[in-house]
Amino acid sequence: MDTGNPYPTLVVTKYMGSKKAILPFVADELTRLTEPGDITVDLMAGTHTIGYAMKQRCRIVSNDIQRYSLVIGHTLLNYNPQPQFEGALREAFKRYYRINGRHLEELFEPGLRREKVMLSRDTDERPDWEDYRDFCEGHPYFMRSTDATDWPEEYLLLFKPQRIAAYRAFNKLEPYSLFSLYYANSYLGVRQCIELDSLRYAIDKLCDEWILDNGDLGLDPFGLRCLLLSGLIAVLNRINPGPGHWAAFQRVSQHNRDYLVAQRRIPLYELFLTKVAGLESALSKNPSPYAPHITMNEDFVAFMREVYEYIKQAKVVYLDPPYSQGHYSRFYHLIETLVLYDYPEIAYTGRYRTGRHQSPFAHKDKVAGAVGQVCQTAREAGVVLVVSYSRGGVVPDCEAFRGILEGHYPSEKIEFRQLSSVHSKLGQAKRMRTEEYLFTCRP
Ligand SMILES: C[S@@+](CC[C@H](N)C(=O)[O-])C[C@H]1O[C@@H](n2cnc3c(N)ncnc32)[C@H](O)[C@@H]1O
Repeated sequence: MDTGNPYPTLVVTKYMGSKKAILPFVADELTRLTEPGDITVDLMAGTHTIGYAMKQRCRIVSNDIQRYSLVIGHTLLNYNPQPQFEGALREAFKRYYRINGRHLEELFEPGLRREKVMLSRDTDERPDWEDYRDFCEGHPYFMRSTDATDWPEEYLLLFKPQRIAAYRAFNKLEPYSLFSLYYANSYLGVRQCIELDSLRYAIDKLCDEWILDNGDLGLDPFGLRCLLLSGLIAVLNRINPGPGHWAAFQRVSQHNRDYLVAQRRIPLYELFLTKVAGLESALSKNPSPYAPHITMNEDFVAFMREVYEYIKQAKVVYLDPPYSQGHYSRFYHLIETLVLYDYPEIAYTGRYRTGRHQSPFAHKDKVAGAVGQVCQTAREAGVVLVVSYSRGGVVPDCEAFRGILEGHYPSEKIEFRQLSSVHSKLGQAKRMRTEEYLFTCRP
């Protein structure tokens, strides 16, 4: 089907507010404002839809507060096709994966054994949905506020706070077991957590140790780490039974049991290889003449200060802020933890990281000030500012948003475009009609 989109896209994970669905609306404007080789600054790049679409034309300087975004951005913008993830590299990876996996299989044997029955394909053997619900809800996890009963004492000891404190203090303690200790039977299954932890372990071992021991191969550890972590994010996205974020996990019910079971049967190792190969294949077809591009991971204010010299040389600063009151740090906490792998404190039913970033763009009383900071920097630097926004956000409509911009630009310096679109509104059954806005502000 011809979607009328001439720009390349590559989706690592579904993302709220991704510009994929309205890419030409934004990218045509950025193309109109730039010449080949010009700098475009992407202040809040998310999944780097814009950088990926524009990297053939522009030098990209991108940023986002979330660490997973840096990983995705470095992969999408700076992937280097040589050498690919195969041969000796892949063999070493598999060895590491098995070492961690074997260790975890022993430790988490009670959970694994019960899960095997719950996920059985033999319908005579498989317990009914209420048993599966009880199994999931009765499973221990770190910081569980009620006692998990009916489990061997030594199994329960694994999840004790003192033990997790040691993991947190001694970075990279083995075996890697964060997901097994925090999320088994919530967002993914027990075996899947073991596989994910072991894939994460193999990525670190390969990039921290194996590459150094094999320096003659000339591999870039950071580039490889970002590629493999992007593959792992894509795996989590694929097995997510939810709607494209991780704000909540589904309780087992009669209605969703078969679906959850099917999702939790998916083996992750092969899926991971497929995802990495898919990324490599797509990325090799979209190289950039201007690589390496700059990708950063800062609050937008610190970022603008740090790269101010680039901003002065840039043709466009593009701002695509959060529109809604929900924080990205909540919706995407699971992939943030996958990347940071730092054994965080967690809270609430969704087991979110505590101390998550709270964006001013998600607060009614802070959003105008935050937009103003971007406007002031862009004006001082003498660069065009392009802003995306959507109807029904924290700033409710285009008049209100225009009002904020007019506090910083004369009205005749602001151009306005609008596009009717259908939002998938991740998590809501109905797709919603909305209006997408694009403001172009000249200094
Ligand atoms: C609408 S999304 C961007 C989507 C992106 N254009 C895409 O297509 O994937 C908004 C982004 O703003 C980031 N963000 C929120 N507050 C921020 C801050 N204070 N500094 C930097 N980035 C921030 C979020 O992490 C999120 O990725």
